[in-house]
Amino acid sequence: MIISVGIIGYTGRMGQAIARTVETHSAASLAGGLTRTTPVGGKDNRPFIVTDKPEELFPECDVLIDFSHASATSHYAQIAAQYGKPFLSGTTGLDKDSLAALHEVSAKIPVLYTTNTSLSLVVVKQMARVAARLLKDQDYDVSILDKHHRWKKDAPSGTALTLGKAVLEGNDGKHPPVYSSIRSGAIVGEHDILFAGTGENITIQHVVTDRRVFARGAVQAALWLAGQKPGYYIMDDVLEIGG
Ligand SMILES: NC(=O)c1ccc[n+]([C@@H]2O[C@H](COP(=O)([O-])OP(=O)(O)OC[C@H]3O[C@@H](n4cnc5c(N)ncnc54)[C@H](OP(=O)(O)O)[C@@H]3O)[C@@H](O)[C@H]2O)c1
Repeated sequence: MIISVGIIGYTGRMGQAIARTVETHSAASLAGGLTRTTPVGGKDNRPFIVTDKPEELFPECDVLIDFSHASATSHYAQIAAQYGKPFLSGTTGLDKDSLAALHEVSAKIPVLYTTNTSLSLVVVKQMARVAARLLKDQDYDVSILDKHHRWKKDAPSGTALTLGKAVLEGNDGKHPPVYSSIRSGAIVGEHDILFAGTGENITIQHVVTDRRVFARGAVQAALWLAGQKPGYYIMDDVLEIGG
């Protein structure tokens, strides 16, 4: 079965990477993209829709992938719920109200929210949780450093905060992580979790050098989401990793 995918934030760096991934995927087809500023016509002049009107795109999709802006995600999730369409968002920097809105619509549609669609990041998160738990009663400070390209709007990154949450779950909040961020050049995405003792350090590092990693993970997760019941999901569910 071919799953038809719609992309919110189609003109963006991630939107374009996801479009290319969908176009070459054997189990997916590109229904089209939603954009704010440059709608370039409907199906007449290309095999998929590019529009600024959700009502033109959403009914054509089996699943929606949102990589847009924190101020827009909950709005589009609510429209997706009106059309009964599964909704995956990788947009970072969502505030509490936006996250609450995603939880609310997940009563009607499958929703997957993740600040990092790299599949290996799921493994790194588990490693961070385990290391934090094992060092919980020891004299260690925890720091999380994220490095991203100069255009990234939020800091610390959503992934840094997700890793920080895993650390806090592991050590019951005993050593809260300190965050720092570097925004420089075209760095795709790097995260270091440093457990610094007195005389020895442990660093867990995750480095992405190619944005297509996020795109591949997003598409794999979206295809999985299209077959799920309404509910709120995270990347761990895609890989069936518990706790
Ligand atoms: N989860 C992950 O693995 C992951 C990985 C990388 C990035 N991200 C996140 O994904 C998001 C997009 O990243 P990017 O690098 O692709 O950014 P980008 O190149 O700036 O693209 C953003 C896209 O969102 C659209 N957009 C911006 N504001 C909007 C609004 N208010 N309403 C509707 N659409 C809006 C833009 O449309 P116009 O062109 O029309 O302005 C553009 O298509 C960011 O939050 C980023 O942190 C997540």
